[in-house]
Amino acid sequence: MATIIAAKNVIPGPRALPLLGWRANMLKLFRDPFTYLPLLHKQYGNVVALAEGDLTYVCAFGPALNFQVLSKPDLFEVSAGPFQKLPENTPLVRIGGNSLQMMKGEKHRQQRRLMQPAFHRQQVAHYRDNMVTLVQRMLDRWQGRSEIDLSREMELLTRSVTVKALFGLDNEAEIDQLGNLLERMVAQIPLAMIAPINVPGTPYYQTQRLAAQLETALQSMIARKRTQTEAHDLLSVLIHAHDEDGTTLHDKELVSHAFTLFSAGFSTTSAALTWTIFLLGQHPRIYERLVDELLSVLHGEPPTIEQLKQLAYLDAVVKESLRILPPGGIGQRRATAPCELGGYELPAGSTIIYSEYLTHRLPELYEEPDRFKPERWNTLNRTAYEYLPFSAGQHRCIGADFALQEAKLALATLLQRYRLEIVPNTTIKLDLTMHPKYGLPARVLPQDRQFSRIPVRGNIRQIINLDE
Ligand code: HEM
Repeated sequence: MATIIAAKNVIPGPRALPLLGWRANMLKLFRDPFTYLPLLHKQYGNVVALAEGDLTYVCAFGPALNFQVLSKPDLFEVSAGPFQKLPENTPLVRIGGNSLQMMKGEKHRQQRRLMQPAFHRQQVAHYRDNMVTLVQRMLDRWQGRSEIDLSREMELLTRSVTVKALFGLDNEAEIDQLGNLLERMVAQIPLAMIAPINVPGTPYYQTQRLAAQLETALQSMIARKRTQTEAHDLLSVLIHAHDEDGTTLHDKELVSHAFTLFSAGFSTTSAALTWTIFLLGQHPRIYERLVDELLSVLHGEPPTIEQLKQLAYLDAVVKESLRILPPGGIGQRRATAPCELGGYELPAGSTIIYSEYLTHRLPELYEEPDRFKPERWNTLNRTAYEYLPFSAGQHRCIGADFALQEAKLALATLLQRYRLEIVPNTTIKLDLTMHPKYGLPARVLPQDRQFSRIPVRGNIRQIINLDE
């Protein structure tokens, strides 16, 4: 049956400024997405044009539209973004432009099928010991320090955990060196895209050189690993992965997947850890209940995989933290053909902006959505399109089990040993990447169970209801 379309309806949205069109509103979205998106939703409904009368960017809000946009990847495809405008055969595009996230259709299905076994829960359990060792190393480093930047420390932790799991390196200096190179590469890409001019001195030129250096390092690592049969690191598992018909991943694909896994895994998990610790600090009773659970089950030791399953309150805390501050807060897709979205017609080429963040704040799905309430998960059950910190559909995060295991191991180990206290009156600004823009200074104290709420400033106070 043909879909009935409320044809020719004009999608509501804020006015377009003369000459600038949707760009002025896009700037607002970039500047303060977590206030602007709820405002658009409140004023205009579930389908909103970023500029009225212009269908270049359209927002789609809520579970029904999440389902429509995320469950039909051939109609609403992921976009290669700025990479598609760059010359193809360059180190930068070979490394960053062929990620699983950007793959489409049969190619995506085939590559994902090959990669999936490396991310099964049983496979991920193999990384438990390394994860714990790296967490404990960080905690030892904190001894004697009075203050840390919590956000940066969590980045360094997840960077080393991801590098260790991916490449299985033993030497700490080597892990740091490769982690540093990978992190620099991730940070350089947006700068390179501003003006892709290949002239010495420009960010684009520097990024290409960095990409070439990384490509060589990854290629020689892959060559080395091809000769090893015993290794359990992710890259080795991917090297030996094969389809029923014998298809395997080529070196070029492996280089690109190694980079993608790093860039997709490290800063998302660090944001989840940073915000969970922040939220606990703002909710003394929840913090206390969690530490009680950890101490009664673990007695000061890091959890085994079996024990992780007994930590029901830790599970609820992490789940709630990923609801209220999901590290992938906003996503986009591109319509490949004229189509219908929430009763409106869209032309091919429209970019659809959807938001996990906004969905997680809908009062019809979550009572008191702006409050951090892990207890809600005792009775609450939500569908894949109503609760989607790892997205949903064919591009759902392949590393979700890895991230949850890593985050829970780190929290359980850390919170039994230290009480981190955000420095009073710190200004905390949540930026578009879901990180605290100015870092998060925290005092390092022994776990003395002196839980109390510390006053903070910044837009975080509009984003989360911290009133008693
Ligand atoms: C708390 C941590 C994490 C969060 C919140 C998260 C979130 C997400 C989200 C929202 C997507 C979908 C993006 C889209 O649909 O456009 C995604 C995809 C992906 N994530 Fe994660 N992620 C996390 C950790 C990880 C880790 C640890 C890894 C790998 C080690 C990883 C690897 C990937 C990959 C490869 C994709 C692309 C999947 C595909 O397109 O088929 N992520 N992630």
